[in-house]
Amino acid sequence: MSRSRSSDVLVIGGGIIGLVTAWRAAGRGLAVTVADPDPGGGAAQVAAGMLAAVTELHHGEQTLLGLNLESARRYPGFVAELEEACGRSVGYRACGTLAVALDADDRAHLRELHALQHRSGLESQWLTGRECRRLEPMLAPGVRGGLQVEGDHQVDPRRLAAALLTACERAGVAFARGWVERLSVVRDRAAGAVLVDGTELAADQVVLAAGSLSGELGGVPSDVLPPVRPVKGQVLRLTVPRAYAPFLSRTVRAVVRGSHVYLVPRENGELVVGATSEELGWDTTVTAGGVYELLRDAHELVPGITELPLTETRAGLRPGSPDNAPLLGPTALPGLALATGHYRNGVLLTPVTGDALAAYLATGELPDEARPFAPGRFARVPGPSRPLEVSA
Ligand code: GLY
Repeated sequence: MSRSRSSDVLVIGGGIIGLVTAWRAAGRGLAVTVADPDPGGGAAQVAAGMLAAVTELHHGEQTLLGLNLESARRYPGFVAELEEACGRSVGYRACGTLAVALDADDRAHLRELHALQHRSGLESQWLTGRECRRLEPMLAPGVRGGLQVEGDHQVDPRRLAAALLTACERAGVAFARGWVERLSVVRDRAAGAVLVDGTELAADQVVLAAGSLSGELGGVPSDVLPPVRPVKGQVLRLTVPRAYAPFLSRTVRAVVRGSHVYLVPRENGELVVGATSEELGWDTTVTAGGVYELLRDAHELVPGITELPLTETRAGLRPGSPDNAPLLGPTALPGLALATGHYRNGVLLTPVTGDALAAYLATGELPDEARPFAPGRFARVPGPSRPLEVSA
């Protein structure tokens, strides 16, 4: 089949980043089409939804911290606007986070994080083990101390994706439900895309927002293709029976034997436990080892977890970039912009990404907060831009 459809903007990828870009661009009066076989799917169906600008701070990622904090600051207003637009809740919880330590090594690691947060002007408070257990009585007696971060909240990524889909539909965004085979380039300019069924989608501007698949799209010149790779995360979902509630009141996390583990309690009784971090290409197998390690580490933090029904196990792919930061804005190919490479921060960066891309699409100018993340920093020819700092 070969139908032709024309828009101001074609967004390739209907995950939360593609959808927020489409919704915000439509809000600026642009005619937008999203191409995706399953819009609203993708990594958001797996992600826990922590908005962890402060607890996931890493050495050498100060520039990314600025963007993360800006997006966290926008979250309440973004949620209010989105819920108004789609008529339902996205499960935003201003509940804060408690990062705890189980042994002397963990405690030293957490003390370093506390010092880094302090140097970065961020709010966090050191608590003794007893103080941690006073906040969260289900914590193991062995918890040696922790950091309370009042400003790191959570949202339900599945509800966020569904809300963005509805908001897009209500804003008049069109959907082409199919896989994109290749970008169309006409006279050295991105001009749309062709789906695997032959449908041609013409557009004045194209945004590549295909998550971990963004580096694979056919037809994109090799010097423009984003350096994005899949980083697998296995995640578990459990259910807290009413009789056990409140099992946890806030997100609880730790680094156990060098691996991050976090427990994210939703108001509806869901408890999300994540996540592995594996460089295994396109593999999304849930493994016995992955489930075992997550449960083992979560059990060390909160022993009562083994009493809960395990309702789901799933793996997703984070779109990793060389400096762990997203690629936002125009490429060297006229007409092609990127919104990808969000790695561990896709849910957190959803509001600021939508705002930045829509501003760029409507005005041709990338807002100041997004400029350090322009794809030109990875240009394969000498130029003024260079990669951001990379965490140790
Ligand atoms: N930000 C949590 C994760 O990527 O696992």
